[in-house]
Amino acid sequence: MKTFKTRQAIRKYLNEHPQLSVGFAPTMGALHNGHLSLIKRSKSENDITVCSIFVNPTQFNDPADLEKYPRPIEADMAKLESAGCDILFAPEVSEMYDDNEQWHLDIGPVEHLLEGEFRPGHYQGVMQIVFKLLDVVKPHNLYMGQKDYQQFLVVQRMVELLNLQVDMVMCPIEREADGLAMSSRNVHLSDTERKRALVLSKTLNYIKDHFDVSREAELEEQAMEMLAAEEGVEPEYFRIVDGKTLYPATPASTSVVALTAAKVGKTRLIDNVLIY
Ligand code: PAJ
Repeated sequence: MKTFKTRQAIRKYLNEHPQLSVGFAPTMGALHNGHLSLIKRSKSENDITVCSIFVNPTQFNDPADLEKYPRPIEADMAKLESAGCDILFAPEVSEMYDDNEQWHLDIGPVEHLLEGEFRPGHYQGVMQIVFKLLDVVKPHNLYMGQKDYQQFLVVQRMVELLNLQVDMVMCPIEREADGLAMSSRNVHLSDTERKRALVLSKTLNYIKDHFDVSREAELEEQAMEMLAAEEGVEPEYFRIVDGKTLYPATPASTSVVALTAAKVGKTRLIDNVLIY
């Protein structure tokens, strides 16, 4: 695997291979099998696979969260090697940002619903960095996880509005054997919290099994109660929404997804399930 730390160096390398198709999976590191599933999918569909590791400061609402974000770069590089990743792009913050750089793109309601309500400005930071990374890597295919369902829609809207030449691929959620969605933040959970966190996937599955579009509000309320009943778990939201708009699902919705966010101890977790 080749590692580049500057935009110029990776661009120079990719320019030398213009005939090869490029797949790209942006990450913030602390890699787990969820991330590696994106790399493997990209490898099966492209000539060259690029992964970026960059803990993007502009998408963090809480400086303490940014500070304590895990950064095990050596272990990450070993995992990428064994997954067969071709190129790692791992820039410093100063490589990606000037001081006081500004960014805003109005993508409509999808930014402000769900996560947007609890993490104002978060998706502007995500779009800002994904735009910069796409501009450097210029991939044919962009691999992102269903784990961050709303993030996928946000980036998809940016790609549409700016007419960026990239195809987006949504990869399914990788879970631990007991159902916990893999996340870089899971390392912050104590053993007890780790067990309590299972209530998220269990509640999502319960709602999927009992879904009825005419009982949506009631099911959302029931799900919030199930989450809150677990000691040490503080639910932020549980919504059953149209998979394209994130507005409440209707009988006309062609896809429906249930999404939730909850604090387990001090750790904020998100998870979701596609109902259809
Ligand atoms: P990060 O949280 O590191 O996630 C990187 C990619 O891995 C995202 O597309 C995410 O949806 C996917 N992913 C995370 N957990 C997964 C799981 N359990 N199964 C499948 N895929 C999973 O998302 C970000 O970083 C950042 O916001 C980023 C897009 C890199 C911009 O900074």
